[in-house]
Amino acid sequence: MTMKKLRSQEWFGRKDRDGFIYRSWMKNQGWPHDMFNGRPVIGICNTWSELTPCNAHFREIAEWVKRGVWEAGGFPLEFPVMSLGETLLRPTAMLFRNLASMDVEESIRGNPIDGVVLLMGCDKTTPSLLMGAASCDLPTIGLSGGPMLNGKFQGHDIGSGTGVWQMSEKVRSGQMKLEEFFEAESCMHRSKGHCMTMGTASTMASMVEALGMALPGNAAIPAVDARRHTLAQFTGRRIVEMVKQDLRMSQILTRAAFQNAIRANAAIGGSTNAVIHLIAIAGRIGVPLTLAEFDTLASHLPCLVNLQPSGAYLMEDFFYAGALPAVLRELGENGALDRDALTVNGQTIWKNVAEAPCWNREVIHTFANPFKQNSGIAVLRGNLAPDGAVIKLSAASPQLLQHTGRAVVFDSIEDFYARIDREDLDIDETCVMVLQNCGPRGYPGMAEVGNMPLPPKILRKGVKDMVRISDARMSGTAYGTVVLHASPEAAAGGPLALARSGDTITLDVPARSIRLNVDDATLAARRAQWTPPPSPARGYVKLYTEHVQQANLGADLDFLVGKSGAPVARDNH
Ligand code: FES
Repeated sequence: MTMKKLRSQEWFGRKDRDGFIYRSWMKNQGWPHDMFNGRPVIGICNTWSELTPCNAHFREIAEWVKRGVWEAGGFPLEFPVMSLGETLLRPTAMLFRNLASMDVEESIRGNPIDGVVLLMGCDKTTPSLLMGAASCDLPTIGLSGGPMLNGKFQGHDIGSGTGVWQMSEKVRSGQMKLEEFFEAESCMHRSKGHCMTMGTASTMASMVEALGMALPGNAAIPAVDARRHTLAQFTGRRIVEMVKQDLRMSQILTRAAFQNAIRANAAIGGSTNAVIHLIAIAGRIGVPLTLAEFDTLASHLPCLVNLQPSGAYLMEDFFYAGALPAVLRELGENGALDRDALTVNGQTIWKNVAEAPCWNREVIHTFANPFKQNSGIAVLRGNLAPDGAVIKLSAASPQLLQHTGRAVVFDSIEDFYARIDREDLDIDETCVMVLQNCGPRGYPGMAEVGNMPLPPKILRKGVKDMVRISDARMSGTAYGTVVLHASPEAAAGGPLALARSGDTITLDVPARSIRLNVDDATLAARRAQWTPPPSPARGYVKLYTEHVQQANLGADLDFLVGKSGAPVARDNH
């Protein structure tokens, strides 16, 4: 096969003054002249940061990718991009997903790179890297850092996030001592890697694999398992081949790939965050994808995977049971997978998974005997969310899926925190908790606060779930009958802003409806009183709030949708 002229040769292949500059400064790292004579340059896009604990082992992973690149005759060059740590970054890592994607896009486009390996782990690092890379559309492979080992506490497994929500409610209702709570911190997160529940990080690692953007096995090999290094090495080898074949992201990220990912998300009981991220990634690569398709393609599918937060087990168990290939095989054998979708290893997804074994049917169920029926994401509409809202069926309580209750409205997250623990809060378990102004513009950044903790006086009764509605997101590790992403959001003038305590709200998931039972004239009068929140004065947050799209469109910045390819307009000398 004759290889297309390498993009990097536009820099390194020149025999003039500019070529001198491009090579000479690189030689200060000790690279010999022959490194610049036509080896594919592989950018290793690294989200390592000690402030992103889930990605803190990525320098090590990068070394294994480099081994593979060297073996295949490439020239690996590692570069940093903005790293988004879910736990520390305020006000929410989601505020910066689009900013990080700009960093990724321009770092790739502006440098002499022929192919890219994306090192991803913590929640937002995966979509931001895929979005940025998609806008350049070079040969690209995703490589996740892998989940942590199972948390172990007092003889039981405890899962990232999910265990925190459970234990903090026990502390709030007086069933757990603070000393035990502190001890659980070191028991929960005891190895390298990202959250080991089927939270957003594991969901997105699974999405990367289901999209065909990673080698088989990417989703679940624990970060500390030697086979994560092997996968990194194989990824390094493969990206060089992809450059030689000019196999670009747009050939992998087809509509079929997104449809496979949507179905896989239902089958794994994946995070609602995948909805926003997949729509945003599709928007970058130019594939039409609507919110409604998450419902029509997958809400009827069963959840096959018994993992927290929808179930009992954790990612380490998922890996030993056969992991995502076993799930994709089940989908493929039951007409729920586009078998012909191409993947980064050059084979169809079906070729990759047709023989995938399952070693534990308690963890990975079959279609014939699913873990939960009808468990995808349902898309609701109605006068509270004309452009849609979502609910994760596998994490909801069946008895609450049709429910009318009195609204208890919090107009901000500060209002919620100020009142939720008060014994005189006028609320009971039949009420519907409503949180406003936590959408993309309102928070800003659309924080994961939609799974509002229940009031202590209700927890003490042993009640574990109530209907909750907001324009916010929810952690992938959270659970409950929680309606999220109401669009348009309250801060953009959406009707969620018009709800008042004392109104009644009807959730009817079978009818895909969410309604505020208030007449139009009253709503119009309330709308006349509504004023938009003030705009931020400066900086990225100003840019973000002025340009962010609503959740149903993926919450990307409007001017980032689409791609510009890899050519650079002009060189710099
Ligand atoms: Fe990083 Fe959960 S906090 S993956």
